[in-house]
Amino acid sequence: MIIAIDGPSGTGKSTVARGVAKRLKFTFFDTGSMYRCLAWKVLGEKVDPADEKKVGDFMRHFSYEIRGGEERRYWVNGCDVTDLIRTQEISAVSSQIAVYPEVRKALVQIQRKFGMSCDAVFEGRDMGTVVFPHADLKIFLTARPDVRAIRRYKELLAKFPTMVDSIHYEQILEETIQRDKNDSTRALSPLKQARDAICIDTSNMSADEVIEKIVQMAPPRGGAFPKMKLFYHSIYSLARLFFKVFFGLRVYGLNHFKKGPGIIAANHVSNLDPPVLSISCPEEVHFLGKESLFRKPFLGWLIRKLNTHPVAGAAADLTTLKRMVQILNQGHKLIVFPEGSRSPDGQLQPHERGVAFLSQSAHCPIFPAYIQGTFQAWPRGKKFPRLCGKIACVFGSPISPFEFEGMSKKEAQEQIKKQCEISIQNLKMWLDNGAEGDPP
Ligand code: DC
Repeated sequence: MIIAIDGPSGTGKSTVARGVAKRLKFTFFDTGSMYRCLAWKVLGEKVDPADEKKVGDFMRHFSYEIRGGEERRYWVNGCDVTDLIRTQEISAVSSQIAVYPEVRKALVQIQRKFGMSCDAVFEGRDMGTVVFPHADLKIFLTARPDVRAIRRYKELLAKFPTMVDSIHYEQILEETIQRDKNDSTRALSPLKQARDAICIDTSNMSADEVIEKIVQMAPPRGGAFPKMKLFYHSIYSLARLFFKVFFGLRVYGLNHFKKGPGIIAANHVSNLDPPVLSISCPEEVHFLGKESLFRKPFLGWLIRKLNTHPVAGAAADLTTLKRMVQILNQGHKLIVFPEGSRSPDGQLQPHERGVAFLSQSAHCPIFPAYIQGTFQAWPRGKKFPRLCGKIACVFGSPISPFEFEGMSKKEAQEQIKKQCEISIQNLKMWLDNGAEGDPP
C-alpha cells in the first residue's frame, strides 16, 4: 500500500510522513533527500548546478544509500551526509536541479522501484501526481509561508546552534517563497495538489494532530480491492459458481496480487482461459477483443460491460499497444497472453516481447499466471467444451520493470520476457508437484 504525502517545504511533511509510517508500521521515504544528496554531490564535484547537460551526465554516476532503521542516515560515496544536506544552500540547489528531466526521470524510477517492494509512506512534491498516481491515499499538506519560515528557522537553529548570527528569519521567508515558486512553476512535475488528494492546512495544527488525522484516513492494510460494479459482480459470481461446480476451480497465489495497474500474463491453451482468469482475480480485469465481436448484437453489449475493449489490429500493433498502455494508465488490470495465440497441444510456448514493452511503457508490474486444465476441458479445434475435469489458476510473484534499470531498453525487454516465461514454468512445476506452501 502506498500513502503519498506532498506539499511545500515547512508544512511538516517529513515529521508527519515519518510519524504516519511509524504508526502503521510502513517504510518511510523522504524523496526530497534524494534531490538533496544529488545537490550535495554536484556542489562537492564542482559541477555548475545551472548547467543542465553537465548535471544530467553526472546523474549517471550518482548513487546514494539509505542506512539505519528508524533513524535514517543518507550516505553518498561513503560519506554520511544526513546533516550536511539540510543547509539553505543545498535546499536552493536541490530545487534548482530538480527541474531537469534527466534528474527527475532517474530519481522517479528509483522511487517507483522502492514503492513496489513494500507498504510505504512517500513524501515529496509529485508523489500523488506523477510518481504514484494510483496511491491508496493521497495527502496534500499546506501552511502559510510565514508559519513555514518560522518552523524552518527553528529547525536550522536547533541543527546549527553555533550559526545563530547567520540565520535570519526574513531571509528564510524570502527563500521559502522563492523555492515555492521554483517548485510550483517548473514545467516538469510541478508541485501541485493531485485531484484526488485530501488537503490539510497544518498552520494551526501540531504534527501529532496531523499524523492522527492521516492514520484515521488510511485504508486497512492489504486494502480491499476496488469494489466490482453490480453487473460485473453478478456475472462474476455466476461464472465462479459454474466453474466451481463443473470444474472444481482452485485459485492459488492471491497473496501476490496488489492493487493498482498491472498486466496479468498467462499461458494460453483454450477459449476458457479468459473467463477462468477473470473469475480467479479478486478485482475487475480488462481485456482486448477483436472489433468484429462488438458488432454482434448481444455479445457486443455483454463483452463491453465485462471490460473488453475493441481493437482493430493484432496484439503487437502499435495502436493496440498504445490502447493497452492507456488502459493500464487508468489503473486497471489487463489480461494479456504473451504466447500470442492458443497453444495447439496444451504445452507452454515461447513468449513474444510485447508484454515486456507494455510493462516498461506503463511502468507497471507483470503478474504471471498459470492456468491448468482448460486444455482438457476445451482444446483448440473442438466446437464445444466438456463440462467436467479439474481447472486451477495460480498467480506468481510480480515482476517489476524497475528491476531491469540500467540496461538498454531492448536488453531489459529480453530479460523481462525471459523472467515471465520462467515464472510461468515455475508455477506449472509448483502445481504439478502438489501445490505445497506459497507459489513462487
Ligand atoms: O522536501 P525537501 O525540501 O527536502 O526537497 C528539496 C527539494 O527537492 C525541493 O525544493 C524540491 C525537490 N523535490 C522535488 O522536486 N520532488 C520531490 N519529490 C521531492 C523534492
